[in-house]
Amino acid sequence: MSILGLRKPVISEAAPDARHRLKPTLSWPHLVALGVGAIVGTGIYTLIGVGADRAGPGVVLAFLVAGLVCACAALAYAEMATLMPRAGGAYTYSYAVLGETIAWVVGWSLILEYSLACSTVAVGWSGYLVGWLQSAGVHLPALLLSGPHGGGIINLPAVVVSLGIAGMLMLGTRESATLNIVLVLIKMVALVVFVALALPVFDPSHLHPFMPYGFTSHMEGDETRGVMAAAAIVFFAFYGFDAVATSAEEARNPSRDLTIGIVGSMALCTLIYILVAVSAIGALPYQVLGKSAEPLALVLRTLGHPVASWAIAGAALLALPSVILVMMYGQSRIFFVMARDGLLPSGLARVSQRTGTPQLITGVTGLLVAGVAGFFRLDEIAELANAGTLLAFIAVGLSLMVLRRRAPELKRIFNCPQPYLVGTLAVVGCLYLMASLPGKTLVRFGEWNAIGLAIYALYGRTRGLMAGRVAEELPAE
Ligand code: ALA
Repeated sequence: MSILGLRKPVISEAAPDARHRLKPTLSWPHLVALGVGAIVGTGIYTLIGVGADRAGPGVVLAFLVAGLVCACAALAYAEMATLMPRAGGAYTYSYAVLGETIAWVVGWSLILEYSLACSTVAVGWSGYLVGWLQSAGVHLPALLLSGPHGGGIINLPAVVVSLGIAGMLMLGTRESATLNIVLVLIKMVALVVFVALALPVFDPSHLHPFMPYGFTSHMEGDETRGVMAAAAIVFFAFYGFDAVATSAEEARNPSRDLTIGIVGSMALCTLIYILVAVSAIGALPYQVLGKSAEPLALVLRTLGHPVASWAIAGAALLALPSVILVMMYGQSRIFFVMARDGLLPSGLARVSQRTGTPQLITGVTGLLVAGVAGFFRLDEIAELANAGTLLAFIAVGLSLMVLRRRAPELKRIFNCPQPYLVGTLAVVGCLYLMASLPGKTLVRFGEWNAIGLAIYALYGRTRGLMAGRVAEELPAE
């Protein structure tokens, strides 16, 4: 037993009963699309501008740092996901390796990652929609376009897109994943076109000075600046590959498909991001880029490609919902597993016999996402989402190393290369990124976890899978 609560077995001894089992309908092209669908979104389409504002041309370096940390986390995820091909991702690995209490904290943090990332993208999408309609001469009532923080009542388009996607997920995983492939193609083609038009006119003078605000994160007036401050924001652009891990129970051939799904989607996105960042910085001075709410469209307009600029904005509008789709899918699966484990009310984990999806929990997730998207501020939601994700990645890096040491004999389908080096880089890198977030975000994150631990103490601890058990089945340390 761990001092932090009992642990689930790493290899599950019994399959869940039919009412609580998910259908294995996904193969590797679906999983790569699922990963890319969740990864490429508001981060590269919008936050690249915020990153340029915080770091100057050094935003390219910020993408490299965040990408390296995420690559290490992705390798750790791939080993853990193929060893434990069960729904739940970081929460499930933590439950088996680090104990129930840490698993709860991780699951609670994953709510921030998945739900708040969905809400962030929904608000970003709403912004694109408004601009798009305005350029066509259609003006919606301002009171319905932002929450009270922006002088409105509710951000209605963000609420509508959130609820619409929750409804699609309730109709069935396979249908949603297939639609996702089409949306993924649209946004990847848009980024390739962007690079093809912007990279040939790269102006090296835009790279000087490369780090006008230095490397470390620090406050300058009210703004957080420095390459690491940018890395802590553009980190948002990279995650989502972990949503593939949360679909492990629904993969047809988990050993092969999950490895290709996680590592493949991560590698593909890192490559395109670096190309997009270099092209954008080479095309416009960072001060101009940093002021824009639609930086990629601005670059193309400035370079004299109005049609391509219009098309890339349209692609963002069409394809950003795919990020919400995958992240909401991941969130509903995490709630599902936590409920199945008894840490949340178990009625929530019931799977519909007709569609094979957990409909009730998906509906609850949709309402939560829509509620946040309708009433809260974009940047603050995004920063909290990053904090939750970083904590989950730290737990996965630790789980990888602890399990290698505790149970080296377990047959691993995917062996993470240099596990202690990769695991340490993931943990230390995520800690450094977390320390580079604004102080007020860290305070809110602490408050969120305090609430979570109080709920765990009052509800989950007495009802969890491990309540009343005296031993678990991992090999002795
Ligand atoms: N990586 C996802 C995005 O950039 C969350 O939108």
